[in-house]
Amino acid sequence: MVGGVPLDELAARFGTPLYVMDVATIRERLAAWREALGDGGRVYYAGKAFLCRAMAELVQAEGVGLDVVSGGELTTALLAGVPPADIVLHGNVKTRAELELAVDTGVGRVVVDSLEELPLLDELATRAGRRVAILLRLTPGIEAHTHEFIRTGQFDSKFGFATVGETADEAVRAALGYAGIRLVGLHAHIGSQILDVDPFAANAEALLRFARRQYDLHGWWPEEIDIGGGLGVSYEPGEDPPTPEAVVRAVRERVAELVPPDRSWPVLSVEPGRSVAADAGVTLYRVGVKKRVPGGRTYVAVDGGMGDNIRPALYQARYTAEPVGPPRPGREVVTVAGRYCESGDLLLRDAALPRLEPGDLLAVFTTGAYTYAMASTYNRVPRPAVVAVDRATVQVWVERETWADLARYDRPFASP
Ligand code: LLP
Repeated sequence: MVGGVPLDELAARFGTPLYVMDVATIRERLAAWREALGDGGRVYYAGKAFLCRAMAELVQAEGVGLDVVSGGELTTALLAGVPPADIVLHGNVKTRAELELAVDTGVGRVVVDSLEELPLLDELATRAGRRVAILLRLTPGIEAHTHEFIRTGQFDSKFGFATVGETADEAVRAALGYAGIRLVGLHAHIGSQILDVDPFAANAEALLRFARRQYDLHGWWPEEIDIGGGLGVSYEPGEDPPTPEAVVRAVRERVAELVPPDRSWPVLSVEPGRSVAADAGVTLYRVGVKKRVPGGRTYVAVDGGMGDNIRPALYQARYTAEPVGPPRPGREVVTVAGRYCESGDLLLRDAALPRLEPGDLLAVFTTGAYTYAMASTYNRVPRPAVVAVDRATVQVWVERETWADLARYDRPFASP
């Protein structure tokens, strides 16, 4: 059951594969972050982890802002009625159209990632008769121990301005020189699925030390410090993330000494994605095939896979799963394979699961973040529906795509 609703009922009603989101868990995680930050901080849920209109509405109803990284995410947020002032726009390459939409609608913060963005923002702001509030994204050289592909804080990164050498100093100097731009603060996101508090404290310390230098150089002091997202979740036993409260406490302790006596504490902002959405999600699959390879593995193949969850193939991510229904005695080691035409399309490798047979329903846990958001239509397999469960009621958040949907933008071949 999720949120008081039996999963087999959901599968019967909506089909499989199916993303199921538990609203109570999302609410609880947003509240934990909000309460951890208190009055001196702000929470922006990172929509890249999982975003659709209903999610944006829920986040807003919970009094939390939204971090978006594209015109598509921004439009979703605006359609959901999120006040533009509660939105932060990210992106290492923002197109002119995206910046224009952000400036014209009055997005609260633009996180500037490159020098190229500054004159463009200034031009758009001046034309709109506004001043755009920005944060500068820094890469402070903090190595968080996560998979290489989801690590972002090291100096040698495509994101932000490295704090080695002059690059970041130059960015501050440049930003302070535009009439259409108001430099309100600094940002750094150092990676994802981080399971201890130290990298967060080190990140905040690096940002404050950099701010101190700018204070000495230009007399500029940040109103806001944004330490990004990155808090991990427990995908497997043994992964034991700290609470948002512990993260915020460690950060505040570490930076207390670094605020100059004549300046006030900057607002502390965070952008959690995974730690809000991951635990709220379960993906339901129907087992289609079981194959025993003599001298090899036993494969249990399901009706979804890398199209709805690319993470095992892309990051060797590991998940846990259980069949839906009454407990079954005994376990066997199987590999749960997807239905896509790639050998690497394996959802769980060598997992000890209760005996599964074709027709069984399998629930894969902790799939609320970076699954639906990263879904593809590879092999022209439609993307699953997203349903949400809230106090024993069920709502469709995203309809299941159809085969015809996938051909909708196709145009006929025209021989010249
Ligand atoms: N803020 C910024 C600027 C980010 O780049 C990210 C994630 C977040 C916030 C949210 O981080 P979170 O709290 O979710 O860790 N697709 C990968 C994760 C990529 C994360 C990218 N940036 C995965 O499936 O593991």
